[in-house]
Amino acid sequence: MGVTMKTIIEPFKIKVVEPIRMTTREEREGILRQAGYNLFLVHSEDVLIDLLTDSGTAAMSAEQWAGVMRGDEAYACSRSFYRFLDAVRDIFGFKHVIPTHQGRAAERILFSIMCKEGDVIPNNTHFDTTRANIEFRGAEAVDVPVVEAHQPAVEHPFKGNMDVQALRELIERRGPKKIPLAMITVTNNSGGGQPASMANIREVKQVLTGYNIPLYLDACRFAENAYFIKLREEGYTQKSVKEIAREMFSYADGCTMSAKKDGLANIGGFLCTNDDKLAAQERDLLILTEGFPTYGGLAGRDLEAIAIGLEEVLHEDYLQYRIASVKYFGNHIASEGVPIVQPPGGHAVYIDAKAMLPHIPPLQFPGQALVAELYLEAGIRSVEIGSVMFARKDPKTGREIPAAMELVRLAIPRRVYTQSHIDYVVEAILQVYQRRDMIRGMRIVEEAPFLRHFTARFEPMAK
Ligand SMILES: Cc1ncc(COP(=O)(O)O)c(C=O)c1O
Repeated sequence: MGVTMKTIIEPFKIKVVEPIRMTTREEREGILRQAGYNLFLVHSEDVLIDLLTDSGTAAMSAEQWAGVMRGDEAYACSRSFYRFLDAVRDIFGFKHVIPTHQGRAAERILFSIMCKEGDVIPNNTHFDTTRANIEFRGAEAVDVPVVEAHQPAVEHPFKGNMDVQALRELIERRGPKKIPLAMITVTNNSGGGQPASMANIREVKQVLTGYNIPLYLDACRFAENAYFIKLREEGYTQKSVKEIAREMFSYADGCTMSAKKDGLANIGGFLCTNDDKLAAQERDLLILTEGFPTYGGLAGRDLEAIAIGLEEVLHEDYLQYRIASVKYFGNHIASEGVPIVQPPGGHAVYIDAKAMLPHIPPLQFPGQALVAELYLEAGIRSVEIGSVMFARKDPKTGREIPAAMELVRLAIPRRVYTQSHIDYVVEAILQVYQRRDMIRGMRIVEEAPFLRHFTARFEPMAK
């Protein structure tokens, strides 16, 4: 009989290391000022622990690097494409698989073909690039999450669920003709990295079928979502993560995917559909802007890395460690009083900046203020997911309406940081938490018309 151990370890050894450059607080003050208090504008060399995103930041395995060497760089119909195609079909099960250079390219192609001005696209919560691509087409991106999704402190196993009744009402109100597709984002990144349940995906599909509306999954973190279903949903404990993933996709008519997340690759994505006519139109557009349909903006070596990554991400040792390390981080800071989105998500811990910094009004960006403070304290890079990213203009008054939540996301790159890195981050957050009353809000001094969070410049509010 094997010995059962309580400690969950990283299920890998480290073969290649990348040094981290240490900086002083004084240096970081200058760096932050120069970057206009926007961490997207700080050089990665000046960051100690980079939790800006889990996207494209994974450490690839020895097998993936070997795949990179095996990449077939033929322009058309390369061996690597067929390996990629087999891997995607095996898990996702869709008829057509269209490679793209990353997730948003899949989104742009999908919405360019499927939606027009005045259309409405429901989602549990649209990610920022999804929303921007829909709005760029003159359509409306509507979030229809369950109410618990906007209550950070409330525990719920599937906060990524869609509110099925609200979806029905939206379809009735706007008319099914105005809704060319609906989406579910698994896991729900902007809503705290929370999973959607199988029952919810199934029910949403049933409702949409009644109106002849196709369902697409934004599948970036499909493996983490499938593992949460295994852990939390009745009837799935004995199923493999792959079987669960297959069932999730069986309810969808297509998906968009950024392979930079659960593809365990540094670049890549794809668009899937079961519709022959749509696929032909999508491929035409792909050729115009991304590349020939068997590479879609990717090198053969990238297709190899994705094919292997998709297989590795379903290993249950990996998923157990992945979900446990995010939970360890979240529970540790929460137990000391730091308000977080509960329960901790699959790829990130989200601090509720509105609750932590109640003295800073939403339009003085408490999340952005906290992001700056964590960098100053310990060189940690995180990202605001709040009113900087999602505030909207009131069409009548032109005034800004704050986002539903003011969150700071600390996303954990896959297979990159160790337990002691996480302990360092925990210590820094607790130190900042101790002096939270001293933190000041921010104002924007420069911003772009779309996706302003990437390039905006800020200034701390006067005392
Ligand atoms: C849920 C979700 N959808 C879409 C995207 C866009 O993918 P990409 O960054 O590869 O364009 C992301 C990226 O962070 C995401 O998290």
